[in-house]
Amino acid sequence: MPNLRYIKTEDIPHAKALADANRLSVGFMTKGKFDEAVQQKRGIIAIENEALVGFVLYRHRKIDQQTTLSEICVKSDYRGQNVGKQLVDALIQDCKTNHHTFIQLKCPVDLPANEFYRRIGFQLYATEAGKKRPLNIWRFTVSCPNKGEG
Ligand SMILES: CC(C)(COP(=O)(O)OP(=O)(O)OC[C@H]1O[C@@H](n2cnc3c(N)ncnc32)[C@H](O)[C@@H]1OP(=O)(O)O)[C@@H](O)C(=O)NCCC(=O)NCCS
Repeated sequence: MPNLRYIKTEDIPHAKALADANRLSVGFMTKGKFDEAVQQKRGIIAIENEALVGFVLYRHRKIDQQTTLSEICVKSDYRGQNVGKQLVDALIQDCKTNHHTFIQLKCPVDLPANEFYRRIGFQLYATEAGKKRPLNIWRFTVSCPNKGEG
């Protein structure tokens, strides 16, 4: 079981190295992007044996109750061990705390990650033209346990 916590400044070089190694799937991520995630508390990392093995960055949109998952990545030798799912579970918890009702993300149609999203309960909402390749838009409904009670 990995440890999960918000990303801190000291994690940035490790997260950036992981992103750089997966540039084809997560795109180019600047150090500034991670800095912002630290400052705004919108990144969660997974730690195994004191090393960073995965991260998820996101944004709770102010205009509505959407949370946008912008990047998720797990170190290749830790894949298939539920690290990605646990990162998303932690994000779901953060959505509940912030009263956000759904998570949305876009994923190039040709990436294996599409199957990951499907397996952990996301639903394919639409497919749109991207700059380089078509993008699947995936959504996950965050259940609010207090809704409808009473
Ligand atoms: C996508 C990614 C984050 C998944 O992380 P992971 O830790 O391997 O995923 P998990 O082990 O938590 O998998 C959860 C479920 O998804 C399934 N799954 C994960 N990756 C899969 C794949 N490539 N193909 C099919 N199923 C997959 C698992 O089998 C598991 O299903 P199960 O619970 O029914 O057995 C990881 O593969 C990765 O970092 N990829 C490179 C970066 C990337 O593509 N990011 C997304 C860009 S849109």
